[in-house]
Amino acid sequence: MAVKFYQPENQVPLEMHKVRVVQKLTLLPVQERLKAMQDAGNNTFLLQNKDIYMDMITDSGVNGMSDKQVAAMNIADDSYAGSESFNRAKAAIKEVFGVDNVLPAHQGRAAENILAETFVKPGMVTLMNFHFTTTKAHITRLGGSVVELVHKKGLIPQSDDPFKGDFDLQALRDAITEHTPEKVAFVRVEAGTNLIGGQPVSLENMMAVCDICHEYGVVSILDASLLQDNIYFMKIREPRCKYMSTKEIYHLLASRFDIIYFSARKLGFSRGGFILSTDAKWTNMMMEFVPLYEGFLTYGGMEVRSIEAAAQGLLESLDMEYINQGPEFIAYLVKELDDYGVPVIKPAGGLGAHLNASEFVPDMPHNQYPAGAVGAALFIAGGIRGMERGTLSEQREPDGTERYAELELLRLAVPRRVFTLSQIKYCADRVKWLWDNRSLIGGLQWEYEPSVLRFFFGRLKEIGYWQEELAAKFKADFGDSL
Ligand SMILES: Cc1ncc(COP(=O)(O)O)c(C=O)c1O
Repeated sequence: MAVKFYQPENQVPLEMHKVRVVQKLTLLPVQERLKAMQDAGNNTFLLQNKDIYMDMITDSGVNGMSDKQVAAMNIADDSYAGSESFNRAKAAIKEVFGVDNVLPAHQGRAAENILAETFVKPGMVTLMNFHFTTTKAHITRLGGSVVELVHKKGLIPQSDDPFKGDFDLQALRDAITEHTPEKVAFVRVEAGTNLIGGQPVSLENMMAVCDICHEYGVVSILDASLLQDNIYFMKIREPRCKYMSTKEIYHLLASRFDIIYFSARKLGFSRGGFILSTDAKWTNMMMEFVPLYEGFLTYGGMEVRSIEAAAQGLLESLDMEYINQGPEFIAYLVKELDDYGVPVIKPAGGLGAHLNASEFVPDMPHNQYPAGAVGAALFIAGGIRGMERGTLSEQREPDGTERYAELELLRLAVPRRVFTLSQIKYCADRVKWLWDNRSLIGGLQWEYEPSVLRFFFGRLKEIGYWQEELAAKFKADFGDSL
């Protein structure tokens, strides 16, 4: 638990690890940051890492590895079939989740592809607290649709509700009845709900969802990619979890959901993905897709060193002294921003801090992509790369009309065990400068819009010349400072 400081004003989150390998960073001058952002088509995915000071685009595959993870990579057993590395991963999964039936996949979305291929048929619906981009793309590609049933409290940007990722349980019952259980491909609970600010789901709500699924005979699936942060929040925010060990919570979840899958880029601090189940009947249904899309059953598209690192990383996800670091740094960043008056999603969740672009640039219409515009502006202001999680990240409707996002967010991910507290303070400081100069931020328009997952490689340009004006204001305020 958090270490208490003697002087209250000194209280900060304290890391229970030390840094022994470092990577040199560059902070470009503002004019070069402006050029880099425009060369990247105002899409932070298209920036080059060499041009970035703080890479806050994601927590996926970029968390700081432990010494034990790096050591484990050296004993990887590289064989096409029957690799000992996979057996060690299975043993770690057994320890963490108490489950024997495990399928590998090369990352989280590959697991989603297998789930969609197994369960989704044209005309079926999938019910979930909230969609994730890749999840939805696989489901709609196969003629299914997504119905979101997050409780309405989850879409209130600022509140003190501890579990904003919870399902609306009555809406879940109503949706199953309306569509009929036969037409429901599955119910998916996303722990640490990504697109609404990394907001957790309570254990009580997850259990209730499982009960409803069992009652109606509908398949229940847990997306555990962000479960590590979610378990931290269960432990500190949910009274019934206070005296449960992290392992007890993982085991309870695995015993109640039919299927659990996750990206090991997040849960496991490595690369790859896994699909697990207490009951072999589910893994047997999916098994044939693994050699078809991923690779043999004992590597599934993963490189063996990553399998070893994931096995060790999973074991570490039981340790509160490791798993508290991400959420506590995020809470610190959110508090700094909130104290500055910057609109930020509250309470702090997992994954990162989320700026509310709808309040940052309140007059900008959705079709000028407010969250994308704030993201481009922040890179110009500080060499900080965030990720748009708003209308740009949505898919157009089948008739080509825009689907406006429920929330226009700029996500500033805080990869775990990567940044120092002074870097987090730098981030808060540059966001504050941008907030004070928000009247200079203008909109974006498409130069090239891909038809699938457009946010990954689409290109946009500024409407007018606001970016040049923003860079000039930075120069005027900061002089020779980078
Ligand atoms: C909740 C959630 N599910 C699934 C995925 C997909 O995982 P991957 O990036 O490994 O494909 C992600 C990735 O960000 C995620 O956050």
